[in-house]
Amino acid sequence: MKGLILSGGKGTRLRPITYTSAKQLVPVANKPILFYGIEAMRDAGIREIGIVVGDTGDEIRSAVGQGDRWGVSIDYIQQSAPLGLAHAVLESEEFLRGTPFVMYLGDNLIQGGIRNLTEEFQRSRPDSMILLTPVQDPTQFGVAELSGERVVRLEEKPARPRSNLALVGVYMFNDSIFEAARAISPSARGELEITDAIQWLIDRGLRVDSHIVQGWWKDTGKLEDMLEANRLILDLLDTRIDGKVDEASKVDFKVVIEEGAEVVESTIRGPAIIGRGTRLEHSYIGPFTSIGDNCRVKNSEIEHSIVLENSSILDIAHRIEDSLIGRNVELSRSPLRPVAYRFMLGDNSKVGIL
Ligand code: G1P
Repeated sequence: MKGLILSGGKGTRLRPITYTSAKQLVPVANKPILFYGIEAMRDAGIREIGIVVGDTGDEIRSAVGQGDRWGVSIDYIQQSAPLGLAHAVLESEEFLRGTPFVMYLGDNLIQGGIRNLTEEFQRSRPDSMILLTPVQDPTQFGVAELSGERVVRLEEKPARPRSNLALVGVYMFNDSIFEAARAISPSARGELEITDAIQWLIDRGLRVDSHIVQGWWKDTGKLEDMLEANRLILDLLDTRIDGKVDEASKVDFKVVIEEGAEVVESTIRGPAIIGRGTRLEHSYIGPFTSIGDNCRVKNSEIEHSIVLENSSILDIAHRIEDSLIGRNVELSRSPLRPVAYRFMLGDNSKVGIL
């Protein structure tokens, strides 16, 4: 089997972070989301992976490379325009044709990987296999209606969903999907929907199997989802302390402190991860927090948050929570008079102050 990872898209719901970085490269537990997808494929025995990229293609290419570090080979497919998931499949036809493949949305995370799924697909050889999971608000997803185990109907983001079973962003196909993707018309949002292409297969009597996902699954399009994904992944960590922790500091529960990090007179209550070269001084890092590489936290408290590399948080009087802080951010007390807040915030920033 080959793998196809979709890594285009503008990430509008994660602005301003996504003005300067692809959403698939935002880190969860200090590792870009996209890498989890590549690892899931590698662990399923897939060696040839195509990554479909859009406007952020250069950044993705330089972060991922040719795949050597995972022992896989990676080809990049430039999508000519962001015209939908089925359009991305069509533009990848040359890379994929002749081999069954698994398609994985680059901003999705799925617990326990995909190995048992690709094995089941190869064993039972349907034309397509889709993954489903019950969700609270199905109007945000593709939704499946089942009769017993058979998929009878799929609808993309229906106003009145017929079930609570959402399509998870992992799909398996054989060559029949190309004809389907060519046959459908753009949806109301102007995209060729993979959901419609799979419905086309069903309408033609081709076999579409479904599998209900047992573990968690996250589509990390929004801040709350990113924080939740971070929580879920951090919870799987085992303690590893490669950096320096002084005697006056306290490190509780599952904590990873990378090499070159320094913890001085601070408390870290895991699960949490502290990146390389980061210095914590007289601070508190609470549960479910990822601090990236080369950051500085001094006289401050932060929990349930993600901080990207090269940022500093200095002398902040109140605890920071539920936050996503980008690269090279400086958050500090201002000593200047008059006493005032001083901001330089990107478009679509969100700040809550006490
Ligand atoms: C896409 C699919 C949708 C699926 C979702 C999973 O939605 O169109 O059917 O449920 O991914 O993440 P999008 O992220 O394009 O809104």
